[in-house]
Amino acid sequence: MPFDLSPIGPTLGAIIEGIDARDLSDADDAALKAAFAEHRVLVLRDQSLGADDQVTFSARFGPLYRMPYVKPLADHPDVIAVLKEADEVKVSTFGSWWHADFSYLEEPPVYSILQAHELPPAGGDTLFADLCTAYDALSDGMKAMLSPLKVMHSGHIYGTKLAPDGEKARMRSVEVSTGHVEADVERAHPLVRLHQPSGRPALFCSPTYTTRLEGMTATESASILGYLYEHIARPEFTIRQRWQAGDLLMWDNRAVVHLAVNDYDGHRRLLHRTTVASERPVPAFNQEDS
Ligand code: OGA
Ligand code: MN
Repeated sequence: MPFDLSPIGPTLGAIIEGIDARDLSDADDAALKAAFAEHRVLVLRDQSLGADDQVTFSARFGPLYRMPYVKPLADHPDVIAVLKEADEVKVSTFGSWWHADFSYLEEPPVYSILQAHELPPAGGDTLFADLCTAYDALSDGMKAMLSPLKVMHSGHIYGTKLAPDGEKARMRSVEVSTGHVEADVERAHPLVRLHQPSGRPALFCSPTYTTRLEGMTATESASILGYLYEHIARPEFTIRQRWQAGDLLMWDNRAVVHLAVNDYDGHRRLLHRTTVASERPVPAFNQEDS
């Protein structure tokens, strides 16, 4: 391998050292993609890419994807600033509960890439949960019950109704627009999605965007989905990215959910985010007709 790789957890995540993301040979590129397929969350240490270099690096993995509802950098339409200022206290932050990015879209984005720029002295970690290993750990009976199902995802936090955290003020530094009627729409996705690079099935639901099981009410769905959210978030399926200066982090939204820990009031945190590729989720198993 043309770089040093150390696993973060036994099944999920790896730290890559000894490469320059601005200058990858074909062998580096191939080895990085193979590591990404297996580990699904990669942290490349000591990078500090500027916005142009981050876009160039991101394009190795597919076409850049422009996110709806979130304002990009003025001079870089493919980059958003994930920012909380020191004086933004007791606000909800971007991505602070388990989610896969924009999973409610018909063709949700596949890869998300974050470059650290300014970090709090402690805190502001990013957590990931392994949706493939969480699926594997279920009993055969549970797998058989879940595998043909679809779940409804909705972008309601960008929609016309009140945010799930009610009156809590939103951060102002990430300019997110709300009130979009199309974000209220529910879309059916397979509950068990295929992570094509590894061929593994992955649970595809999250408390941020999943509203209910298809064909059932939210109330009827609540105990099954609640069980799955608890299961996914078990410590043995999760890893924690403790950011270091220069870290370049990337994950595959088909195979993990993530959350930004909002525990660093009083400190500035700035990351640059690019998003790559999008696709209609592929079911891991045959779906029931709907
Ligand atoms: C995101 C996100 C996590 C973080 O950029 O999609 O959820 O730790 N960010 O800021
Ligand atoms: Mn996110």
